[in-house]
Amino acid sequence: MKYFYIILIITGVIVGSGFVINKTPQHNLDAQIGRLLFFDTRLSINKTKSCASCHNPKLAFTDGELTSKGAFGDTVKRNAPTLINLADNETFNWADEKIVTLQQQSSIPLFGKHPVEMGNDSINNELLQFVFKDEKYLPLFNQKGISTLNWRMAKDFIAAFVTQLKFHNSKYDLWKKKKVKFSEDELAGEKLFFSDKTNCRKCHSSNDFDEPEFTRMNHYQNIGLYNIGRDSLYAHNDNGLYNETNDRDDIGKFKIPSLRNIAITAPYFHDGTAANLNEVIEHYARGGRLIEKGEFAGDGKLHPSKNQFVEGFTITTKEKKQLISFLNTLTDTSYLADKFYTNPFK
Ligand code: HEC
Ligand code: HEC
Repeated sequence: MKYFYIILIITGVIVGSGFVINKTPQHNLDAQIGRLLFFDTRLSINKTKSCASCHNPKLAFTDGELTSKGAFGDTVKRNAPTLINLADNETFNWADEKIVTLQQQSSIPLFGKHPVEMGNDSINNELLQFVFKDEKYLPLFNQKGISTLNWRMAKDFIAAFVTQLKFHNSKYDLWKKKKVKFSEDELAGEKLFFSDKTNCRKCHSSNDFDEPEFTRMNHYQNIGLYNIGRDSLYAHNDNGLYNETNDRDDIGKFKIPSLRNIAITAPYFHDGTAANLNEVIEHYARGGRLIEKGEFAGDGKLHPSKNQFVEGFTITTKEKKQLISFLNTLTDTSYLADKFYTNPFK
């Protein structure tokens, strides 16, 4: 009898896993509608920008720009972050604690005026009505049983799509499950990342490398990128969390970003001012960034709000290479094989 159950379980596992592998992934109806809206440039005033223009699936839903450009070419203040594994975050945006839902965050590109990103008017639902003449949307709306669409609903659908962007099939994930081996460099890099020398894990902890190790530590931190003048300000009049709180301790504090897919989301930092991972590591090794001349001159290492864990360390060229090898294992573009995550209008 015992063997019967064992055989039953084994067959169950085999059939079950075959099922998962062969089955075309099912995505709920709301997310399917949200997917169309996410990729649709008709969601901007001059039909030039969709969410995907700045959150391109091929770049782990970033845009490769220092800072993004809006529908009329306006420069957006900050660097577009990845949208992968983001939905569970407590807050969205680089530095605004009040933005706690994906819908609130979407309102900024959809309706923002300074700068214009997609240039819509939140109380005018007219622009959305094109969807009822579109053969891609219609079957989904019929299934859903709706014949009107307003911005609130559109934001909910888009949020349902963004919520599906959860992927954990990187080499790192497979290594943790003992399905693949790390190279010597990757192993050494992993040790460096989690060491007390580099302190990386103090802030980039948790499975998505986006949470501080100590639960009492804030999700927003100053890592010493700037230190301008007597008031220790940050560049481009963007002082991070301080913009909202007016608390001087918050100058230069930005949200700890996830390091998943970091190899393909350059340039780095809230304003895109590190071109590659080598520059990022050199910044941390120095314990802050020195800008010698120009309007942003100053030594970030001496910023009064800088976090104590960014203290600097010595690192050899070989170790830098190893740390980067480890960061490269966090890349996961397996989702591109599923058409659901690619542009339906192409
Ligand atoms: C013009 C470029 C642009 C467009 C269009 C755009 N975004 Fe973004 N997105 C950004 C930038 C830049 C940020 C960072 C904003 C900030 O923190 O100030 C961002 C941030 C986000 C975040 C928060 C990420 C985080 O780490 O907290 C989400 C979620 C998001 N965008 C979703 C969307 C959705 C959904 C759309 C379409 C409705 C959209 N974006 C359209 C550029 C864009
Ligand atoms: C005190 C907390 C803290 C420590 C320690 C820390 N980071 Fe960060 N990290 C951050 C914050 C906050 C940002 C965003 C800062 C900004 O853009 O202003 C960031 C940004 C980054 C980025 C750019 C991410 C992006 O999407 O632009 C990389 C890469 C990175 N860190 C890697 C590391 C590595 C590697 C280490 C160890 C050498 C490390 N971090 C140590 C908090 C920290």
